[in-house]
Amino acid sequence: MIDLRSDTVTRPGPAMRRAMAAAEVGDAVLGDDPTVLELEARTADLLGKEGALYMPSGTMANEVAVRAHTRPGDALLLDADSHICRFETGAPAALSGVTCRTLPAERGVFTGEAVRIAAAEAGMHSARPALVCIENTHNLGGGKVWPMEGIASVVAAARECGLRLHMDGARLWNAAAATGIPERVIAAHADSVAVCFSKGLGAPVGSCLVGDAEFIERARRVRQQFGGGMRQAGIVAAGALYALKHHRSRLSEDHENARALARGLAGLPGVRIRPGDVETNLVYFEIEGRDAAEFAERLQEVGVAMLPAGPHTLRAVTSLGITRADVDWTVGVLRRLLGGQRP
Ligand SMILES: Cc1ncc(COP(=O)(O)O)c(C=O)c1O
Repeated sequence: MIDLRSDTVTRPGPAMRRAMAAAEVGDAVLGDDPTVLELEARTADLLGKEGALYMPSGTMANEVAVRAHTRPGDALLLDADSHICRFETGAPAALSGVTCRTLPAERGVFTGEAVRIAAAEAGMHSARPALVCIENTHNLGGGKVWPMEGIASVVAAARECGLRLHMDGARLWNAAAATGIPERVIAAHADSVAVCFSKGLGAPVGSCLVGDAEFIERARRVRQQFGGGMRQAGIVAAGALYALKHHRSRLSEDHENARALARGLAGLPGVRIRPGDVETNLVYFEIEGRDAAEFAERLQEVGVAMLPAGPHTLRAVTSLGITRADVDWTVGVLRRLLGGQRP
C-alpha cells in the first residue's frame, strides 16, 4: 500500500525503536523524566522560547494554549478552515468557554487589517477578542506557508489591539524546511506555539507547547486538568527526540515528492490542481465530475490510499517512507483509473 492519507501514518523504524527501548525515564509529572526534559529543552531552544511542555497530541497542545490564554466568554480570532476551528471537536467552546470569530482568509492566511476590524467591532454585545490563532503551515490551505510579512502584519495588529498570538505549528518544521527560515525566527513573535512530532517528523506520539516561563507554568496546570500529564513518558519522548535529531533535515524530500506528484497530476485528464500552490507536503486536487469518496475506494483497491477532502477533492500527503518511485507509480495508477482503464 502506498499510504498518502496523512503524514501521521509513518511507523517508527528500527533505530527509532531502539532509542525508545533504551530511553532513560522518570516521572514526567513530578518533573524528573530526563528524556522528556531533554526533548522539552531542545524544542524550546529550537523555537527560541523559555519553556516547552510535552503532551500527547497537537489537539491538546492547541487547546491547552487556548485555555491558558483566555477566559470564558472570550473570542478567538482565526480562519474558518483552521484545525482549531474545524477539527478539534468544538473544544474551544467545550473546554474553555470561548467562541471562534472567523476572519476572511485566503488559503488560511489573513491580514492584520482583518484582525483590527474584528477587534474594533467588538463591544458591549460581543465576545471579547483575546487570542489570535494562525496555522503554519496551513493544512486545508494546502500546506500553505504563512509569508513572514503576513505574520508581521498580524503580530502588529494583535499587539495594537492587546491580543495574544498562538501559532498552531503542527507543521512548522515543514514551513522552516520550505523557506530556509529557522523555526525560532518564524515563531519569534508568537506568545505560544504548538509543534507536532508525529506528523512529518515521523515520531509515534506527541507534541510540545512552547512559550515564556510564566505561560508554561499556567499551561502545565491546564495540561494536568485536561489529563495530559504522562508518567514514564520518556519512552515516547525518545521517539520524538530521535525524530528531531534525524528527520528534520529530510523534510525537503517530502516537499520535492509532493511537487513531483502535483506536476504528474496536472498532466492527467479531468484533474484540477495548481502545482505552483504546492509548497510543502500536502497535495489537494479535484477530480472533475467524480465522487471523491468512491474514487478513494477504487484507489485503495489498487494499493494507493488517499483521503477524500470534499465532494470532488482528494488529499495526498508525502512523508517518511514515500519515495519518488511511489509517486511515479501513483501518477500511473491515477492515469489509468481516470482514463477508464484497468490499473
Ligand atoms: C494543523 C494541525 N494542527 C493540529 C493538529 C492536531 O494534531 P493531533 O492529531 O496530534 O491532535 C493537526 C492534525 O492533523 C493539524 O493538521
